[in-house]
Amino acid sequence: MSGPRSAKDFFRPLAVGAPTPLTEIPARPSRAIHFFDPSNPKMAAKIPDMVGTVDVLLGNLEDAIKADNKVAAREGLVQIARQTEGLGGPAAKTQLWTRINSLDSPWVLDDLTTLIPAIGDRLDVVMVPKVQGAEDIHYVDRLLAQLEAKAGLTRPILVHAILETARGVANVEEICGASPRMQGVSLGPADLAADRRMKTTRVGGGHPGYLVRGDRDVDNPDAPRPSYQQDLWHYTIARMVDACAMHGIYPYYGPFGDIADVVACEDQFRNAFLLGCVGTWSLHPKQIAIANRVFSPSVEDVAHARRVVAAMGDGTGAVMLDGKMEDDASLKQCLVMVELAEQLAAIDPELKKQYDAIEVQA
Ligand code: GLV
Ligand code: MG
Repeated sequence: MSGPRSAKDFFRPLAVGAPTPLTEIPARPSRAIHFFDPSNPKMAAKIPDMVGTVDVLLGNLEDAIKADNKVAAREGLVQIARQTEGLGGPAAKTQLWTRINSLDSPWVLDDLTTLIPAIGDRLDVVMVPKVQGAEDIHYVDRLLAQLEAKAGLTRPILVHAILETARGVANVEEICGASPRMQGVSLGPADLAADRRMKTTRVGGGHPGYLVRGDRDVDNPDAPRPSYQQDLWHYTIARMVDACAMHGIYPYYGPFGDIADVVACEDQFRNAFLLGCVGTWSLHPKQIAIANRVFSPSVEDVAHARRVVAAMGDGTGAVMLDGKMEDDASLKQCLVMVELAEQLAAIDPELKKQYDAIEVQA
């Protein structure tokens, strides 16, 4: 195995004439990454009206697109990107992403060699499924550089990995650091469960059998005992969050397949938000509203965070607020919240109104 590129070369383009890689990944709001099938004319017709209402629209070319529709999906995405005003590119309110086919499939090369010349100026992020290790990112990185150079693009296309193989999880830190193009990582619970040989049959979410039960009452052994469902995804998400934070890129929940169960969906999204994720996938328009709500800090949290910031003055020392100690470290947490609120307010007028109405208590 070869070691990582030298620090002096890391930010050099991988092809002559390719755009210079970014040294920092911009924090563009991406609370909901809404998946659509570009080969489905009914879904495609809805896209223009969705622009501006969702942070990211993702043209899906991989799983859920039938083999017979792979070419139609690719070509449909080109049409949609060309025809839809305000979708994709650095100034757009709604980003355009795609999920290409996996690197071991017969379709992926055509996905990239078609999309980059045709709509490379509109595509913000390419999501790569079933990533196993840094070598997969290196392959895509070089190919993108060659195609960008050939197409005369001036802005590097970013790369997002789906964490959905056991080996990918084992290598998540090196995947996150494999290229300056790395924008983020999503949990892929369905493929990951299969690859790990987990004994579940669902797409994301919990399982009633994965629980912890309260102790037996020795005096009354037949008495009912409380049990609490545990989160199957806690370990993977926590590990993904650390790997992303360490490399300055963004972690995401992934698909939640039980569209009708909006309560459990919201809970899964909120766990991910609290652990550090910035967004999630949406498989149905009703999941967009859930994601936008969950991945935007609440008015109460923003109010509290601003109050701590105001009370902490130069940011050192400690103060007591409502009987709780606040210090340099809690201030830093509050600053994360305040910064996120500012970024979201810049693109979401309704949120801006709510955050602007907050009066900072002394
Ligand atoms: C997503 O692609 C998943 O496999 O969960
Ligand atoms: Mg998958």
